[in-house]
Amino acid sequence: MKIAGTGSYLPEKVLSNADLEKLVETTDDWITSRTGIKERRIAAADEATSHMATKAAERAMEAAGVKAEDIDLIIVATITPDTFFPSTACHVQRNLGAIRAVAFDISAACAGFLYAMQIARHFINSGNRKTALIIGADKLSGITNWTDRNTCVLFGDGAGAAILTTKTPDDGDPSGLLSSVMASDGRLTDILSVPGGGSAIPITPDNAHLRLNTINMQGKEVFKAAVKNTCEACEAAISRAGLTSDDIAVLIPHQANVRIVDAIRERLRMPPEKAFLNLHKYGNTSGAAVAIALDEAVRTGVVKKGDNILLVAFGAGFAWAASVVRW
Ligand code: UT7
Repeated sequence: MKIAGTGSYLPEKVLSNADLEKLVETTDDWITSRTGIKERRIAAADEATSHMATKAAERAMEAAGVKAEDIDLIIVATITPDTFFPSTACHVQRNLGAIRAVAFDISAACAGFLYAMQIARHFINSGNRKTALIIGADKLSGITNWTDRNTCVLFGDGAGAAILTTKTPDDGDPSGLLSSVMASDGRLTDILSVPGGGSAIPITPDNAHLRLNTINMQGKEVFKAAVKNTCEACEAAISRAGLTSDDIAVLIPHQANVRIVDAIRERLRMPPEKAFLNLHKYGNTSGAAVAIALDEAVRTGVVKKGDNILLVAFGAGFAWAASVVRW
């Protein structure tokens, strides 16, 4: 399997740290020094996750030279679906006219895009499907508690996509997925969640004021789990690929916090310039973050033909994943 093309989409509206200073008791200095984030994008009220996902998909299809009728698998990784059902993937399928595809969503929060890549890889390598569209898309602004300074400064909206296709062993193309690690730890479900709005705690007129249908996070616990688990996953992915960290040209990490990226990088003994960052522009866009970063790194020439790149993501679940891809 190889990545034949990438695409991304960010909504137009920019929400800066200065704008947030007017909403909650915070400062640009606090947000910048603790997270690295300067601004984030916010989707329009009538812009659903599937709209952003479709735009990112169209760009990935154009980059890969793939038409809607070629796609036989669509996986959307999202925690902010348009509707409980049908899946956002089916909304995207309709928008694209990709009627030959089987389409479904997966829920793995910020690790979703890498989970989707690894699921699609199994479909393709088994010969079951030939051309997959994988998308990470989230509209976190809709589940953010805009009165909670602990969380509202961190998140943004966006979508990223990739087209994955089969490759034959004798086609002379060295690009492809070299290794993957996928893991989760359900003991940590409570450190990052949207507790209400599902079957466990329905939102009722009586509890609506508690904002249980918004993000609830124990930041320090998430930070610790993220550093420990992703460092181990990165080391395992590099080793399974038969490489060392010196062989990795570009690290494309989940864009949650520059201090988490620094910790991963330092553990892998990688210099700062190897880490691709765009969190200062977009904040944490959950399932979209790694996909958007990959697309930007490819389009700006940071990732070059033949490079080994390390993708890593973590988030609610706790769920995390790492992959080494040769471009
Ligand atoms: O995709 C996964 C998503 N989540 C993450 O990756 C989050 C991982 N965690 C983090 O990135 C960090 O823990 C945060 C950025 C969320 C918080 O940074 P921290 O260095 O862990 O700060 P803290 O939570 O320990 O808070 C330190 C202080 C507290 O004040 P006191 O108790 O020391 O007086 C907070 O109330 O900073 C305060 N604080 C703020 N101050 C200004 C918390 N949020 C803010 C804020 N502005 N926005």
